[in-house]
Amino acid sequence: MTKPPLTLYLAAPRGFCAGVDRAIKIVEMALEKWGAPVYVRHEIVHNKYVVDALRDQGAVFVEELDECPDDRPVIFSAHGVPKAVPAAAAKREMVYVDATCPLVSKVHIEAERHHANGLQMVMIGHAGHPETVGTMGQLPEGEVILVETSEDVATIAPRDPEKLAFITQTTLSVDDTADVVAALQTRFPAIIGPHKEDICYATTNRQEAVKAMATKTNAMLVIGAPNSSNSRRLVEVGAKAGCTYAQLVQRAADIDWRALDGIDSIGITAGASAPEVLINEVIDAFKARYKVTEEVVETAVENVEFKVPRVLREPA
Ligand code: F3S
Repeated sequence: MTKPPLTLYLAAPRGFCAGVDRAIKIVEMALEKWGAPVYVRHEIVHNKYVVDALRDQGAVFVEELDECPDDRPVIFSAHGVPKAVPAAAAKREMVYVDATCPLVSKVHIEAERHHANGLQMVMIGHAGHPETVGTMGQLPEGEVILVETSEDVATIAPRDPEKLAFITQTTLSVDDTADVVAALQTRFPAIIGPHKEDICYATTNRQEAVKAMATKTNAMLVIGAPNSSNSRRLVEVGAKAGCTYAQLVQRAADIDWRALDGIDSIGITAGASAPEVLINEVIDAFKARYKVTEEVVETAVENVEFKVPRVLREPA
């Protein structure tokens, strides 16, 4: 049977960001330096494939520090942790390595600086996401008010509307966040904020590439985990940009081929925590069913790299 033709648009950039790359390297280097088991508090990055591969090498994933023994190293995930977590590890004299993405740490520092200047914080983020929990946990309880949407802005009651600053989660939708920032600035004209927002370069670039792909095709697959914030945003951005079919899949086995019946083009991208091997798996699955023509849709070139913490660069 002859395969039907299909144009596969590949977003560039897509997949791993510098923060994810560094976090995975930290776990691998820790295993090399200290041997197994090395404990990791929370999924190091939100991807089952990555977590399973590290587990196979001897990483033990736990949700809370209480689940770790005192005498084994523990790594904190890329999303960041509340201040109380490293404090508790230090109190137990544990060896710990913080794999918080430096761009998340930057937001933590921003929050502390504003707090030191007597400002109360408003954080734009998703309730319960580990990054939000970690960032809010940099300041004492009540010092950070969480808003998720523009509607939430109308309901908050800060201590002093004249003494407010805002920060954001790094993996939000650029466009939705701009609306929330505008609502904050309208209601609290004195509010201080970062120059734009705290959404990181990787999130911004992946969303831009999705928008560019959406001008060429109206079907899109995002490779990523259901609990990955930036991956879910890519699906939303694709749908908003006009893709009538925009779906999140973890890997090739999740593709709903029946839903794709009759398409002659599709865009493929991946969240910042999805490894290239899963992207290739999806591309190969299309090649098995269609006569594929690949076209790269490049909107940015990334060359960001973050160093691993010094403790892992020193000999054991
Ligand atoms: Fe960091 Fe952005 Fe990746 S905050 S972990 S570079 S998605």
